[in-house]
Amino acid sequence: SQPLRVALAGLGTVGAGVVKLIDENRALIERRAGRPIEIVAVSARDRSRDRGVDLSRFAWVDDATTLAASGDVDVVVELVGGSDGPALTLARDTLGAGKPFVTANKAMIAHHGLELAELAEQKGVALKYEAAVAGGIPVIKGLREGAAANVISHVFGILNGTCNYILTEMEEKGSDFAEVLAEAQRLGYAEADPSFDIDGIDAAHKLSILSSLAFGTAVDFDSIQVTGIRHIIAADIAEAAALGFRVRLVGHGEESSKGLFQRVHPCLVPLSHPLAHVSGSLNAVVAHGNFVGRLFFQGRGAGEGPTASAVVADLIDIARGETGPAFAMPVAALAKPAAASAGDR
Ligand code: HSE
Repeated sequence: SQPLRVALAGLGTVGAGVVKLIDENRALIERRAGRPIEIVAVSARDRSRDRGVDLSRFAWVDDATTLAASGDVDVVVELVGGSDGPALTLARDTLGAGKPFVTANKAMIAHHGLELAELAEQKGVALKYEAAVAGGIPVIKGLREGAAANVISHVFGILNGTCNYILTEMEEKGSDFAEVLAEAQRLGYAEADPSFDIDGIDAAHKLSILSSLAFGTAVDFDSIQVTGIRHIIAADIAEAAALGFRVRLVGHGEESSKGLFQRVHPCLVPLSHPLAHVSGSLNAVVAHGNFVGRLFFQGRGAGEGPTASAVVADLIDIARGETGPAFAMPVAALAKPAAASAGDR
């Protein structure tokens, strides 16, 4: 059968992971997808950097945005990052050309996901972004498909691996904030601009996407109240521990008759709650559905292998011919959320 020909824009931590995963699990992927998945073209700023994998076999393209129009490419995977700029151009061009698009870019989905999903619907192709939220945890599919039949009242979780790694290392090893952040960058967890991690913006991007999926509302990033972990010091963590709590950066979305309430902030989580035991770069998402009850998803939220795993899962869906809606339902059917404030809850 015809291979699915993939172009990869961006060869950072996740891009290299996608190449390695497709190489290593090639036969299994072909059986599950029903056809081979082949990377045919790649684009990255730095060609010479050693990424621990042979890239000489692919066609190299200087301008990633040209990948959309290439007659040799069936699907584009965007791992460039940034909510606007080349990533957004590439998304619009690819979907506009009637080709499916896969991305790990939560900032872009948070700000432009509805526009892109509408374009994908018009063209009858898939827009996929499993890797954008909680790394390797299949939480997009979990909420959109798995819990599709439920009224979900709230969704919350630990959505940033870098912050969780910093908070965990500060507590367990007494490490210095800046030192652990540097280590998170070395491990490939942090954003290109790590202030997105530590100021809670990355978690807010992800929360806006989860809320949309959980409540069937349009993505609403702007109304989120955000506080990061920049000001947390070792003494805060020690005092919390003495009282039987752990400090975790939590994103929380709740829908009621008062409207949609979304917030990202450091929380004191009691040791009796499972979120207190989500450590290091792990992420976790909790959702409550009226028929399924409580769902608890946990897994690696950042880094090469887990994020690549989610990207390739999306490629397998596309190889199988899936074209379902990007959000809980077609964009025109999503409810417009009315933002509630803390006082309304
Ligand atoms: N910087 C993100 C994090 C990467 O630390 O969670 C995964 O989205």
